[in-house]
Amino acid sequence: MSDRYIDFANSSLGHRLVAAIGLPSPVRLERWQAGRLRPVEGALLIGGGLLAAKVLAFANKLTDAIYSYGPEPLVAPAWIPGHGPKLKAVVFDASQLQHTDQLKQLREFFQPLLKNLDHSAHLVILGRAPESLADPFAASAQRALEGFGRSLAKELRNGGTLQLLYVGDGAEDQLEGALRFFLSPKSAYVSGQVIRLGACATHVQDWTRPLAGRKALVTGAARGIGASIAETLARDGAEILLLDVPQAKADLDALAARLGGRSIALDICAEDAATQLVEQLPDGIDIVVHNAGITRDKTLANMTPEYWDAVLAVNLNAPQVLTKTLLDSGTLHDNGRVVLLASISGIAGNRGQTNYAASKAGLIGLAQAWAPLLGERGISINAVAPGFIETQMTAHIPFALREAGRRMSSLGQGGLPQDVAEAVAWLSQPGSGAVSGQALRVCGQSLLGA
Ligand SMILES: NC(=O)c1ccc[n+]([C@@H]2O[C@H](COP(=O)([O-])OP(=O)(O)OC[C@H]3O[C@@H](n4cnc5c(N)ncnc54)[C@H](O)[C@@H]3O)[C@@H](O)[C@H]2O)c1
Repeated sequence: MSDRYIDFANSSLGHRLVAAIGLPSPVRLERWQAGRLRPVEGALLIGGGLLAAKVLAFANKLTDAIYSYGPEPLVAPAWIPGHGPKLKAVVFDASQLQHTDQLKQLREFFQPLLKNLDHSAHLVILGRAPESLADPFAASAQRALEGFGRSLAKELRNGGTLQLLYVGDGAEDQLEGALRFFLSPKSAYVSGQVIRLGACATHVQDWTRPLAGRKALVTGAARGIGASIAETLARDGAEILLLDVPQAKADLDALAARLGGRSIALDICAEDAATQLVEQLPDGIDIVVHNAGITRDKTLANMTPEYWDAVLAVNLNAPQVLTKTLLDSGTLHDNGRVVLLASISGIAGNRGQTNYAASKAGLIGLAQAWAPLLGERGISINAVAPGFIETQMTAHIPFALREAGRRMSSLGQGGLPQDVAEAVAWLSQPGSGAVSGQALRVCGQSLLGA
């Protein structure tokens, strides 16, 4: 469903009217287009501590236009406020900040940039996870980055986003993959997120096809977000298996044919679904995306047992049972990637969705609990929590609620299925074993549960 308000707010009359009466003025976000090669099309500014030098070492693979800024300039042309180009991407390494008085470096670095950001600029702060630091003051300073970053993300205009990446020991060599995502339009609808990177032994070999040689299963792939995930994983080189209910077979077959993949018509709640799936995957699988999901909304007072059971069965029980069977049977290969489609309802709660929110929160808990165990086999498991995404599911929401869902975020609009798909594709990469047990929100920094 198209968002007519964005069209209006970006027309010449609408733009003036919206500004005059102080209404939200969401911009059209820049998104990744087929055929694009460079993550950053424009100037990339790098500054801060030792990790900045690590970023500089591969920055020429992100863009041609690299600048440095700050008291200790790096080996890159200095960016001069008011004279340098508009900035499309910014990386600030704040990992060396250990005391309260050093936090002023955040203000000193970012303040001059804010009026010089290009449309849809992507900003990243690098730090060290507070829980990894022995010194309480250093841990406090690193935790301060979270409050700073989430607030600055809310102040950005013109489609800008900001994330904080806590870089663990040995995770430095996975920074490139993370920045290729977070500095590019692939993360157009992700903002205000805090992600922890750990060490990961596997790496992407070819950035034009980061999933080459990997087999991926996507459930609920016949339409909406699942179809977009299947397309994006195929674009990135994966061999795709698309699964959906038998009733959706025609759409599923058509998409599978278009993507050169294979379709599996199966209800994931069928009693023998796990056995059937293992039989269909004799050569095993590298990536499993549990996207199939349903809503059956009612307030708890009116919730029928059927509504409750259906949602918990599809959204939570099936991903648990299927993943366990794929693991126990050895079907899911070592260094595999599991991605669970959660929801910000599972983080914030939502009126009328006790069943849905319970199922989605359960998925986040599953990722957290399973990650350390699966890590022994190099397998990562993460949740992606979409906010308001423009799909058939959200087209059915009553108008006023739909409008509220769209506007109550820093980016002031709903996301597209492609935005969720890009996040899933990044978490599916060989190097993204650096992230596990985490929930990545794709919600335009929604105010809900923030
Ligand atoms: N659309 C949003 O705004 C939004 C927000 C947060 C989370 N999500 C989650 O993202 C996922 C995809 O959402 P969507 O909007 O594309 O939904 P959708 O309803 O458009 O698509 C869901 C797909 O899952 C399939 N499916 C349902 N039950 C199944 C079963 N038992 N076995 C196999 N396949 C089954 C459906 O046939 C359908 O093709 C869901 O898990 C949803 O909860 C969506």
